[in-house]
Amino acid sequence: MKTGFINIPPNYEQVLTEDGSYTLYSKKYDENCHSTSGADGETEKYFLIDSHLNHDLKTSQTIFETGFGIGKSFLAVKKSCEQSKNKIHFISTEIDPNLVIWFFKEYFNLQKLSQDIIEHDFEYIKITILIGDATETTKAYFQDKELKVDKVFQDAFSPKKNPTLWTKSWFEILKSISNETVTLTTYSASHSIRKNLEDAGWKIENLKGFGKKRSATRATLI
Ligand SMILES: C[S@@+](CC[C@H](N)C(=O)[O-])C[C@H]1O[C@@H](n2cnc3c(N)ncnc32)[C@H](O)[C@@H]1O
Repeated sequence: MKTGFINIPPNYEQVLTEDGSYTLYSKKYDENCHSTSGADGETEKYFLIDSHLNHDLKTSQTIFETGFGIGKSFLAVKKSCEQSKNKIHFISTEIDPNLVIWFFKEYFNLQKLSQDIIEHDFEYIKITILIGDATETTKAYFQDKELKVDKVFQDAFSPKKNPTLWTKSWFEILKSISNETVTLTTYSASHSIRKNLEDAGWKIENLKGFGKKRSATRATLI
């Protein structure tokens, strides 16, 4: 049995999921950051396996994440690239700076100040977290940069709770920052979300969902 968190950030509650791993429930969004079927299992399924990241770690990769949350995807990627020994750039987005400050203290005993961009260079992975509304911070960060991303982890709260991060215009932004060989994965399989992806130029693939979810989505550009 894994142990829970040492501290809990303000406005969140700890939730034990069915695979023994923990996630946080956000009082503001009235939603858990992960599936109650398993926070670790869900992260591995959508972002290491469905995205083909585990396979593609043979070459260095740039990852972009919609919603840093409690940093579970980042920690899973960090562990994988420590085994493959390839340098990864993990760029994430988070509207709640307190969550990011909590994350660095909880896992690395690092004191990070609330800034527009929080960065840290680990041995095999560099993390950049854009603080603020992702629909604004993402464009600003990628503007005037050559940088393009290889994987997109689309992991906002549900479309009902977090609608601005599931629109056609958001998926157009994601397309504009991506290499043409990019792979986007997400737990959502809703028809309207898939339509928004397609209208923005993404091609859809239906995947098996995790836990109680029947389906999930992988999207590519070619
Ligand atoms: C489902 S959680 C992400 C879980 C995360 N990927 C992990 O591995 O722990 C969604 C996150 O998106 C953040 N979020 C919501 N709206 C946002 C926005 N407009 N811009 C940036 N982040 C946002 C929430 O604060 C929340 O932490």
